[in-house]
Amino acid sequence: MLENPGAASARIYDYSLGGKDNYGPDRDAAMAALAMHRVARLLPRENRKFMRRAVRYLLDAGVRQFLDIGCGLPGKGNVHELAQRADPGARTVYVDNDPVAVVHYQALLHAVPTATAVHGDARRPADVLADPEVTALIDLDRPVGVLMIGMLDQITDADDPDGVVRTFRDAMAPGGHLVICDLASDRLTAADFAKHEKIVELLGFPVVFRPAARLAGFFDGLELVDPGLVPAPEWRPDRPYDPPSGWLMAGVGRKP
Ligand SMILES: C[S@@+](CC[C@H](N)C(=O)[O-])C[C@H]1O[C@@H](n2cnc3c(N)ncnc32)[C@H](O)[C@@H]1O
Repeated sequence: MLENPGAASARIYDYSLGGKDNYGPDRDAAMAALAMHRVARLLPRENRKFMRRAVRYLLDAGVRQFLDIGCGLPGKGNVHELAQRADPGARTVYVDNDPVAVVHYQALLHAVPTATAVHGDARRPADVLADPEVTALIDLDRPVGVLMIGMLDQITDADDPDGVVRTFRDAMAPGGHLVICDLASDRLTAADFAKHEKIVELLGFPVVFRPAARLAGFFDGLELVDPGLVPAPEWRPDRPYDPPSGWLMAGVGRKP
């Protein structure tokens, strides 16, 4: 039995993208946060569009297995759909620590043998990698695309995000790719930070902005794919885009 939900990251994000899988507390939190920080309106779309471009890039690079950590709720153009359009045998495992997000993906995937969703916590990366449903679909001896899109900014320093990313990086075979899109603090003003503290209180879960130089460290030991770590809309754009918020930095690293 699922608990009665308060506001949750996956559902706030779903609401911000125009989805229907959210409840009153999610909508209230989203609207209050967006009223305080107008630029935040841009973030879900920047995030999601980057994810799709990055997955297509990985598919072109020959990657055929994807581990989407902090997958959120299904939306338009999900990872397994992009992957299977390119190759019906491509495999995807979605992971989230929100059981509601996982159940929605499981319902969507019940007849899809090449994709599944598991309940897992990125803060325990070894457990995620050892999950029997992960190991059944993902062969870590072959290149895997590990996606952390809008997820690491919910892991506080106390939970060692560097260690989390390192564990996934170390588990990747050569040719594997790490895809990150994350909140960067560089463009935030003191006033933005003050508002941000209120928003975090309202949301009830951590939202951590880190300097871009710190985010770059997540790619240690990997070759950063051109154009490097950049504002999300500037990462290999495939069509004209609105001016970036500057709050989301995105990059892809390849394991040599
Ligand atoms: C902003 S949503 C991003 C959704 C998706 N990656 C996308 O780009 O469309 C962040 C997701 O990360 C999940 N999340 C946060 N912390 C997590 C953790 N420690 N382990 C797994 N998932 C986590 C949340 O539940 C939420 O679904």
